[in-house]
Amino acid sequence: MPMMMGGSVACADCHGPDGRGGRQQMMMASFTAPDIRWQTLTAADHGATDEHEEAGAMEHPPYTEATLKRAITQGVNPAGEPLAWPMPQWRMSDEDLNDLIGYLQTLE
Ligand code: HEC
Repeated sequence: MPMMMGGSVACADCHGPDGRGGRQQMMMASFTAPDIRWQTLTAADHGATDEHEEAGAMEHPPYTEATLKRAITQGVNPAGEPLAWPMPQWRMSDEDLNDLIGYLQTLE
């Protein structure tokens, strides 16, 4: 999705300022962005609940720091499945990724 790159689209635009996700309207399409708070992504039942599927995500194991970085930069979930089209792939330094994950860890 090259139109979405260039730093003008932030995580919060889709996943919300509190990281909890929700229904979005963008480019005449509507989709649901999942909850990406650290505690949600790494919970033991993450990826296996009905709410998770209703929130637009596929079944997969919980995230770790490594798989979360991969999801952000390569657009794949811990099961190696590609994430749906609204989720962009980000070009970020490891330092920025660590900052971002640190931020997700502060969301409650
Ligand atoms: C243009 C909208 C959009 C933006 C911007 C966006 N996301 Fe997403 N993201 C999505 C959608 C939609 C999904 C669900 C895709 C799927 O499950 O197939 C998703 C999925 C994810 C997932 C996987 C969640 C799960 O439960 O598997 C993570 C992690 C994530 N996004 C993190 C981020 C981060 C971090 C940023 C900012 C760097 C970001 N996203 C920016 C739309 C967006």
